[in-house]
Amino acid sequence: MKRTVYLTPMPVRIWHWLNAFGIVTLIVTALQIRFPDYVNIFGTYKAAIRLHNTAGVVVSISYALWLVYYLFVAGTLVKLYVPTADDLKHGLFRQAFYYFFTYFRGRPNPHHGTPDNKFNPLQKTAYLMIMIVLLPLVIVSGFLLMYVAPLREMILFIGGIKTLVSAHFLIACCFCAFLFVHIYLATLGHTPFAHFKPMWNGWEEVEEEEKPVAEPLSTRVPNPSRSEATCMTHAAGDS
Ligand code: HEM
Repeated sequence: MKRTVYLTPMPVRIWHWLNAFGIVTLIVTALQIRFPDYVNIFGTYKAAIRLHNTAGVVVSISYALWLVYYLFVAGTLVKLYVPTADDLKHGLFRQAFYYFFTYFRGRPNPHHGTPDNKFNPLQKTAYLMIMIVLLPLVIVSGFLLMYVAPLREMILFIGGIKTLVSAHFLIACCFCAFLFVHIYLATLGHTPFAHFKPMWNGWEEVEEEEKPVAEPLSTRVPNPSRSEATCMTHAAGDS
């Protein structure tokens, strides 16, 4: 049976595509800034720097909005993004084993996304690192590089301009690596676009296994942990 689940609210979708567009612009402009003798996409070196700085500001503002939304509006940052002890002990391995092995044998994904538990343990860990460690670091290091003269003292305090440039570059490399893996893993739903749809219209179609024996209605015990308000689902085709 197929059901659709409302997984991704609109503010998160707007943030995600703005952020993705900004990060891709940052990577492409960075190529010209880092290798000006080999890459010339934006005409002049100055134009590449101006676009890079603008994209950096857009990514920073959209990051701040993401943080405010998850912390204060939805209040689900910890619940959705922080792996549990069980995720770290068993979930990471289970999910990696699926991606590297059982996926290719046609077995089902061990994780089924719900609004209260959207991400599998690997996603939680990767997204937490990216959103809480790497994105803030790349934003702060980029900000320091934008204002080298006025922020000179601070730059010297953290080891000088060379250390700062190297750190900014290394974090950017992590983003490139993340992007490839992120996009590849996003295509491993039950169809190649299954995970892209909720990032576009909010709803994900999930396949549910039929229960072998139907429980009589009178013996069914309501499950208090499953709230109708937060878990908006409806059978595919109902809408
Ligand atoms: C062109 C580039 C990108 C594409 C095509 C893409 C695609 C997707 C898709 C399909 C999803 C939903 C499925 C899933 O959770 O795996 C997703 C979620 C997510 N992506 Fe991306 N992504 C891109 C760039 C990025 C970048 C640059 C970042 C971070 C710097 C990022 C961070 C995230 C996060 C945190 C989520 C979970 C959002 C939430 O529901 O709270 N993505 N992405």
